[in-house]
Formats: sequence, structure tokens, C-alpha cells
Amino acid sequence: MTQVLPIERIAVLTSGGDAPGMNPAIRAVVRTALAHDLEVYGVEEGYNGLIHGAFNRLEARDVGGIMQRGGTMLMTARSKEFMTERGQREAIHELNKHGIDALVVIGGDGSLRGAYALSQQGVPVVGIPASIDNDIWGTNMAIGVDTALNTILDAVDKLRDTASSHQRAFLVETMGRECGYLAVMAGIIGGAEMVLIPEVQVTLDEIAGAVEDAYRRGKTHAIIIVAEGAEVKIQDLARYLDEADVGFKTRVTILGHIQRGGRPTAFDRLLASRMGVKAVEAAVNGRFGVMVGLRGREMSLVPLKDVISRQRKANMEYFAMVRMLAR
Ligand code: F6P
Repeated sequence: MTQVLPIERIAVLTSGGDAPGMNPAIRAVVRTALAHDLEVYGVEEGYNGLIHGAFNRLEARDVGGIMQRGGTMLMTARSKEFMTERGQREAIHELNKHGIDALVVIGGDGSLRGAYALSQQGVPVVGIPASIDNDIWGTNMAIGVDTALNTILDAVDKLRDTASSHQRAFLVETMGRECGYLAVMAGIIGGAEMVLIPEVQVTLDEIAGAVEDAYRRGKTHAIIIVAEGAEVKIQDLARYLDEADVGFKTRVTILGHIQRGGRPTAFDRLLASRMGVKAVEAAVNGRFGVMVGLRGREMSLVPLKDVISRQRKANMEYFAMVRMLAR
């Protein structure tokens, strides 16, 4: 058995695109660390704060009242500086200077790549997946996904009211540059006619055919969810459908960053709390170079190397379900 070295100081940061639930994750990390008699430091603005030594000591009261707030109290950034060798060297220097012996990184794909880069250079890191895209390999759900999905659903429900009053087709753009998870799930639970995602190529003609068919079947509205990374661009599609005269007139709604904000749902708060606890327990037990993942109903630890070398894509069974349920 390898001996586990006791740790005394732990730091936590949030990085990349914010996701609702980052705050409850920070709270859980801080309070679990305090329960283990560790000193805790919050790093401001993700990897930028690491490079510039923006470390602040956090106590239990500092993370009070943040559970229900979207965004991140630590602020976040997509750090260009950290992508360079020099940036990483400076970050490691600051971690050593502050005597940090475990770092928790809360963020998405790019942030976990950064965490892996640090762990390759000997930094004891534990990752927590947080990104509304749900494109992170090794966890069923990332923090923020459920809240974003509920926001999309709320918008789609409202759009259907106006769509069916005018017999229109609404094209709704969701986030998701490389993964169609949000679009597919919103398509099923929002009752969309079809979804367009980066993983599947569909021609404008095929889409027009499906929308026209829905009109002929007497539908009062058609909702088409378009992931932002889909090959077909939403404005081009709107123009094409209007020119092809598919029956419905079209309108476009781009949900944009609204999907990133808002109160985290019960699911996200619980997921974030469990992940925060698990991350600190991993650090206390000397388990580094890993990400906390939700597997089934259990929390697990997944090597960061696996997380960053694989890509999570939308589920094709769910994708097919959208069309089948749209009869
Ligand atoms: O990765 C999360 C995400 O919200 C993506 O869905 C989106 O493409 C991107 O971030 C937007 O990034 P930014 O907030 O930097 O414009």
C-alpha cells in the first residue's frame, strides 16, 4: 500500500464558461475541506488568477447564501495565458508559493485539459465537470446541464404558444458547439419536429420535407431545435424554408447566454454538492489526476487522461426518438 501524504491547504477555482451549479460546488468544496481541517483558498478568475496569484482564504461564512445563485462567486475566464508553457510555469510557481497541496478545478472540457496539463507537471489536481454542453467524457451529467435544459424547455414551451397561435415554424438555437446533447434532450421533452446537431448531417431539402410533412398532417406549429454547432445555420435554414414555401412561415429564436444563467435546479445543486464533497475526499485520500464523475447514481473517479482523450457525443437513440415522437 502506498502511503497517503496528509494535505493541509487546498485551493479551488472555476474556469471556462460558467455553469449554474458552480456556486454550490464551491460551497461543498470549501465546507468539506474545512470539515477535514484544511485551509481553503479560492482562486479568482480561473487559471488567470492562478498565474497572477489571486488567492483568497475562504471560511464557511464566505460561501454562505450562494447555493441558489447562478454564475460563480470566484469569477471565471477562458485564459489564453494559461495555454502557454510560460503561463503554466507561473501558475505552478504561485501554487508552490502559497503552499497549496491540492487544487480543485471546476470547469468544462478546456478547463479539464488545463487540469491534466498541470497534473502532468506534478500538481495534485482533482477535476469537477461543469459545463452546460454535457460534452465531457466520464460523467453522465456535468454541473449546469439540467438547469440549462430547464431554461430551454421553458423557452420552447412559451414559443409553442405563439407558434401555434399563428401556425408558424419556430427555429430555436441552443448552445452546443460540438455536442448536440442539449438540442436532442430539448427536442424530446419540448416536443420538437426535429433537431439539428453537429453529429448528424442533414440537407436543407430533407428538413424542408419534414416541416412540410408536419404541415400536411395538420400540425398547428413546428419546433425545430438547432444546436449552434450544427452544419446547417439557423438563419440560412429560415430563409430556405420561407422560400421553399413549406406551409408554415418561420421565425428564429436564438437562446444564447440565457441558457448559462439562472438559479441552479435541485438536480444541479445536489450534483454539485456531491461532486464537491467527492473531490475533497479524493484529495484527502491522495487520489489526484482524476475527475469526479456521475456513473449511474454513484460518484466515481475517472482519470483526467481518459476524460481529455475521449469526446462525448449526443446519444443516437435519443436523436431517433425525437422524430418518432413527432408524428
Ligand atoms: O462551453 C459552454 C458554452 O456555453 C458553449 O455552449 C458555447 O458555445 C460557449 O460556451 C460560448 O462561449 P462564450 O461564453 O465564451 O461566448
